[in-house]
Amino acid sequence: MEKDLRSQHWFGKTGKDGFIYRAWMKNQGTPSYEFEGKPVIGICNTWSEFTPCNGHFRELAEAVKKGIYEAGGLPLEFPVMSLGETLIKPTAMLYRNLASMDVEESIRANPMDGVVLLCGCDKTTPSLVMGACSVNIPTLVVSGGPMLPGRFNGKKIGTSDIWRFSEATRVGKMTQEQLLEAEASMCRSPGHCAVMGTASTMACMVESLGLSLPGNAAIPAADARRKTLAQLSGLRIVEMVRENLKPSDILVRKAFENSIRVNAAIGGSTNFVLHLLAVAGRVGVDLDLKDFDELSANIPLLANLQPSGEYFMEDLYYAGGLPAVMKELLPFLHKEALTVNGKTVEQNCANVECYDRSVVATTDAPFNDISGIVVLKGNICEEGAVLKPSAASPHLMKHTGRAVVFEDIEDYKNRIDDPDLDIDENSVMVLKNVGPRGYPGMPEVGNMGLPKKLLEKGVTDMVRISDGRMSGTGFGTVVLHVSPEAAAGANFSALQTGDLVTLDVAERRLEAQVSPEVFEERKRNRAKEVSRYDRGYVQLYINHVEQAHLGADFDFLKGSSGSEVTRDSH
Ligand code: FES
Repeated sequence: MEKDLRSQHWFGKTGKDGFIYRAWMKNQGTPSYEFEGKPVIGICNTWSEFTPCNGHFRELAEAVKKGIYEAGGLPLEFPVMSLGETLIKPTAMLYRNLASMDVEESIRANPMDGVVLLCGCDKTTPSLVMGACSVNIPTLVVSGGPMLPGRFNGKKIGTSDIWRFSEATRVGKMTQEQLLEAEASMCRSPGHCAVMGTASTMACMVESLGLSLPGNAAIPAADARRKTLAQLSGLRIVEMVRENLKPSDILVRKAFENSIRVNAAIGGSTNFVLHLLAVAGRVGVDLDLKDFDELSANIPLLANLQPSGEYFMEDLYYAGGLPAVMKELLPFLHKEALTVNGKTVEQNCANVECYDRSVVATTDAPFNDISGIVVLKGNICEEGAVLKPSAASPHLMKHTGRAVVFEDIEDYKNRIDDPDLDIDENSVMVLKNVGPRGYPGMPEVGNMGLPKKLLEKGVTDMVRISDGRMSGTGFGTVVLHVSPEAAAGANFSALQTGDLVTLDVAERRLEAQVSPEVFEERKRNRAKEVSRYDRGYVQLYINHVEQAHLGADFDFLKGSSGSEVTRDSH
């Protein structure tokens, strides 16, 4: 009997209150002894048929339950808002903070002693982790796992190929029939995107932070060992409740530093920056945009995974999974950092082996010396902007070109294939008003497609700059997350077609050759924008979302409100 459990403030009561708390639960066939001091574990489920990457989560929840029962706990599954990347309009990022509020309030309001977060598609990981951190009861993440790679025309394919197929179709190198065939060939198993896109990056983020059992990130969704890991996670969360091991014990500054270094070594998504900053904000860890650049500066790229490399998440699993990467990276990591299994990072790596050096390289012979996230500063990104060098073209890392500015995504779509558009391969494409407030919701449009007439000439990359994001599966010399965004009225809003823009990655510089006086004058003369949104969640979002360099969380969600509920309506 464990009487000091949080859940006992409901189920341990006598009289009318206890009657009400237990009686309705019994309509699920639960015997009385289940309420007599067993740790109650919530299973926070993002299952939804609108989120196909998480479509197998009912089965996964059953495996978690087995472990919880086995350890003497009582599992209770609950749904939260599920954010499917492919269907949600205008963009799933608009709802990350809303989902995190759903998670936070659902955990706090209910009789839970610990919680298992079932995360998969991109935003379902940060939203659940952010929400749970703001409550701070024992928490463990189980990811859904990546899909098996697709197969098309004898080749393995994944999400990164969509960009190639799309451009090949636009210039007539691929027919509509072939495109349909590719579409049917790609997502052939349960799971999230099979490459090191944002979903896999997020799964690696939680594993490197110490919030999941070792090996969680890479086991394919279709592999039986995914269910084994889920069951073991159920078993472990009950122990964590007994040990009172909470996110605040694990998520200290050192854990964040480890995660940034691991993200560099795996070639993780630029979205990692936004989500890690937001998680740090919830647990009160001081993390700055410049940390991402500084901490990853000497980390080589070890994982040869698409979009920076060649292989798929399934291959990473067979090569030894994320622990194989972390073992190789140990000299750069805080080895003593604690993880959810009660062991340190070093202990978790002790018996790990790498089985395929073409997938996980050594630090002595890395897959690429260039890794991580570069943080740029300059007069059009005073608070910063990011670029992923491993996905960029070496010849464009230092480049000056004439800006071709698109005021918003509609302007881009209307003009990009206009044969009269004054643009060449040396131009710098600029897309404004796709930031957190401007769009609103910061969509993944930063790796905008190149003009058809340049694709036809064989151009494959150009410098592109925006205040938006890029899919973790995207690539190119793409400057993202310009902060402050255009909608915040900063210099970026006053950049015009014809201005000369210099990108210098080595110097960490992104500058327009425009004087401060000219920028000020242009801003004074700009017509004031009238918001299209005057009610509901979107208005709340616009009024409270922070800029990208702070993680785009809501200003009022920073920190934690704890797990205590002091008032009682019965
Ligand atoms: Fe869900 Fe890529 S669309 S992870």
